[in-house]
Amino acid sequence: MHAVRVFASRRFPARVREALEGSFELDVHDSEWPLEREELLRRIAGHDGLMLMLTERVDDELLDAAGPQLRIVANYAVGVNNIDLDACRRRGVVVSNTPDVLTETTAELTIALMLALLRRVAEGDRLIRRGEEWAWAPNLMLGRSLGGLTLGLIGHGRIGQAVERLALNHGMRVVWSGRGRGQSPDTLLSDSDVVSLHLPLTDETHHLIDAAALVLMKPTAVLVNTSRGPIVDEAALVEALAEGRIAGAALDVFEHEPEVHPGLLELENVVLVPHLGSATHETREAMGMLCVDALRAVLVEGRMPPNTVV
Ligand code: DGY
Repeated sequence: MHAVRVFASRRFPARVREALEGSFELDVHDSEWPLEREELLRRIAGHDGLMLMLTERVDDELLDAAGPQLRIVANYAVGVNNIDLDACRRRGVVVSNTPDVLTETTAELTIALMLALLRRVAEGDRLIRRGEEWAWAPNLMLGRSLGGLTLGLIGHGRIGQAVERLALNHGMRVVWSGRGRGQSPDTLLSDSDVVSLHLPLTDETHHLIDAAALVLMKPTAVLVNTSRGPIVDEAALVEALAEGRIAGAALDVFEHEPEVHPGLLELENVVLVPHLGSATHETREAMGMLCVDALRAVLVEGRMPPNTVV
């Protein structure tokens, strides 16, 4: 019997790498940067399991390049929009993801973004770094507290509910819409002071927040997105911000990631971070260990992991 071969497409926390090496014949692309597509397709050939990132598109081409022995793709993310699930299903390739372990971490970043935007933290940081003159003053960079504001959550799954809990602790009023339940999205958009998105990216949610949705928001309201970039029509958002139709935006994710719409870079009432929702040492390690457990389940123990997507 041949050794079970796993390819992993990025550098991982040490514990994850040790666990992979302890169980499999491992080929790892030990880098912080993704492989070029051609190189990725070459490297994955002949492996039984793949541990891939959200930056890697898993489609027929990739599955062909891996070969018919491939049995599992462990996605190092909870979102699986980078994967053609039907193509995997057709070939009997299991897909696993990383739910739960990043819920609180992502919810925490959502609150951090709200605070950074509404209390003007990033803007103040930029002012100091530019070396601008300033002195404490009663009217210097006044913002808004979260307490008393209405938070509208579009999407009320695990992460949306975790944001709700944290927001209630900050004294916010919370309304939500999701899966045909809760408030209608239109009512939510026009009632909320902060609109926060917590949805998977699908054909239905692509550009859910477009010019027509932004028009419904109050001119004093802000938008926060920690889910997937293409849910927001970035050009429409830039227009709404530039014309003062909404008061600000805080984005962890981008429509054409890692590119950011140049219009966003020019606006002071915008906070931008590079897809950091799950980025803590503990969470990234836990995500890795979930992938290792799923690979072991399928390739060593011959069972379906609890975090099976298909
Ligand atoms: C995910 O898991 O889908 C995030 O975008 C990265 O952690």
